Amino acid sequence: MTAFDASLLPASATLDAAGRVAIAGVDLASLAERFGTPLYVYDEADIRARCRAYRSAFGDGVAYASKAFLCVAMARLVHEEGLHLDVASGGELYVARAAGFPPDRIVFHGNNKSTAELRGALEAGVGRVAVDSADELERLETLVEAGLPAPRVHIRVTPGVEAHTHEYIETGNEDSKFGFGLDSGEALAAVRRVVGRGVLRFAGVHCHIGSQVFRLDSFERAVDKMVGLVRTIEVEVGSPVEELNLGGGLGVRYLSQDTAPTIEQYAIAVHEAVGKALADAGVRSRPQLLTEPGRSIVAPAGITLYTIGTIKAIAGVRTYVAVDGGMSDNLRPVTYDARYEAFLPARATSDRTTLVTIAGKHCEQGDIVVRDTPLPSDLAVGEVLATPVTGAYGHSLASNYNKVTRPAVVFVRDGAARVVVRRETDADLVRLDADA
Ligand SMILES: Cc1ncc(COP(=O)(O)O)c(C=O)c1O
Repeated sequence: MTAFDASLLPASATLDAAGRVAIAGVDLASLAERFGTPLYVYDEADIRARCRAYRSAFGDGVAYASKAFLCVAMARLVHEEGLHLDVASGGELYVARAAGFPPDRIVFHGNNKSTAELRGALEAGVGRVAVDSADELERLETLVEAGLPAPRVHIRVTPGVEAHTHEYIETGNEDSKFGFGLDSGEALAAVRRVVGRGVLRFAGVHCHIGSQVFRLDSFERAVDKMVGLVRTIEVEVGSPVEELNLGGGLGVRYLSQDTAPTIEQYAIAVHEAVGKALADAGVRSRPQLLTEPGRSIVAPAGITLYTIGTIKAIAGVRTYVAVDGGMSDNLRPVTYDARYEAFLPARATSDRTTLVTIAGKHCEQGDIVVRDTPLPSDLAVGEVLATPVTGAYGHSLASNYNKVTRPAVVFVRDGAARVVVRRETDADLVRLDADA
């Protein structure tokens, strides 16, 4: 028998004598009854605590990577906690602005920002643009020369560092669609151009080596490479580097057996590596360190609730437990073969003696939510099932595949729940159809 590992839940989780799980004083199974399933549930205080941990380690140098999970309530929370916001499209910028997020605290990312997106960002007064390509530099300069305000720019660099994560989320290699190559000299040439032309305001350099990174030495190697670049910029371009943005990427525990560095351990490793590299390289600039965490702020704070709809036991093969969501609300298992755990929030302490596979409701055999997970042998249709650590890249990668409506998002705090994103309705499915 495998007991459910409650350490995968937010710190506020409690378990009563009957095995019912509550988060922030709110009973999970009752939330499913009240708001329906699938349902994304976030412990608001848990998100805030992670924002604070980053803030106390990096001061004003933290931008929450909104791609991990964004809605108006989240953008407001991030602002209240004193973080900047990283957006990677005109759409994310739109949501940020709808939330009233101060534009000068927004960093605009993306490997293929259109002229319209860049114009919108500059008109809005976005504080920083992380420039990804020579084409983008050209577009930005043209817009500024036409009278739009010049943003502070970071040159995004691929430092040629392996992050030891899934290849689809490894972004710091030379062979990447993102940024300017370091070893090829492209990054230095881009800096030289920005400083030389003087149209844009050169603020610093940026790298993001990947996501769900567990190894601190990968970040340390990126620091070495980036500080080397800072030194080269000082010497060869003659410009100080005010900001060194190391991107996001800190991994989180999805499974009991995972071990991930804490935010504090990550911060200490990065600060020490930067201090040492600056001293070793004899760099005069003291760039402000910036970081852009996404997953490590929201993933552990989120839990998805489903209802079991059917159970198919194939003798000698496996038992499929099908839930009312799947790849439309959590694309990570299909995309990255991501693994999760599962539990029954109304009886988390029941014997978990049977290995089952939790499947979604979509028309793909690959639509698996959790493969081979222990659950009680008397599992029944109609029970609520929960997957912890689903707060990042779930809602934001959600789709309407099979015309399934996207779930609501609920924040729980101090014994109360509030809907921050309403559940889609069938009417939403034809909202954009011109012929409907
Ligand atoms: C440029 C950039 N910054 C930050 C992040 C956030 O990464 P994570 O959610 O792993 O912290 C990403 C994610 O892909 C990214 O591309």
